[in-house]
Amino acid sequence: MRSASAALAIAGALLAAQAGSAQESEAGERLFATCQACHSLDPAKPGMAGPHLAGLAGRRIGTAEGFDYSPVLRAAGAQGLSWDEERLKAYLADPDSMFKGSWMSAPGLGREADRSALAVFLMRQR
Ligand code: HEC
Repeated sequence: MRSASAALAIAGALLAAQAGSAQESEAGERLFATCQACHSLDPAKPGMAGPHLAGLAGRRIGTAEGFDYSPVLRAAGAQGLSWDEERLKAYLADPDSMFKGSWMSAPGLGREADRSALAVFLMRQR
């Protein structure tokens, strides 16, 4: 009995966590509107000021095909660094301080909840 109720409690917690991230992802999608001036989620869309952000989870930094990156982002990719949720959250807080001399002229996001929601959303885009 005890293990059955523990299992139920765990299942409930997992469901709650999933619901939370689905909500976060929706909030992130709304926030992404401000990024869409420069970023697409469609790798085939030409003429954007920034690289496409499809499949960002696990993607090596500075490697969207056909995009001309700044030396600092290319160097980060060459070192083998890639994007995950934590790195993206830190980047969105202050893009310039993470990659000095990068060409993304967007300000950081001041609210932790916004950074988190955007990171959750972007990590889900294949
Ligand atoms: C004014 C245009 C502009 C806006 C707005 C903008 N970006 Fe960028 N972003 C860029 C450019 C340009 C680069 C490439 C920077 C470089 O090469 O140094 C970039 C790079 C990135 C990268 C690195 C991608 C890679 O392939 O390594 C991420 C992640 C990113 N932006 C996320 C965002 C998010 C999220 C937002 C919205 C909060 C945003 N950007 C808003 C122009 C923009």
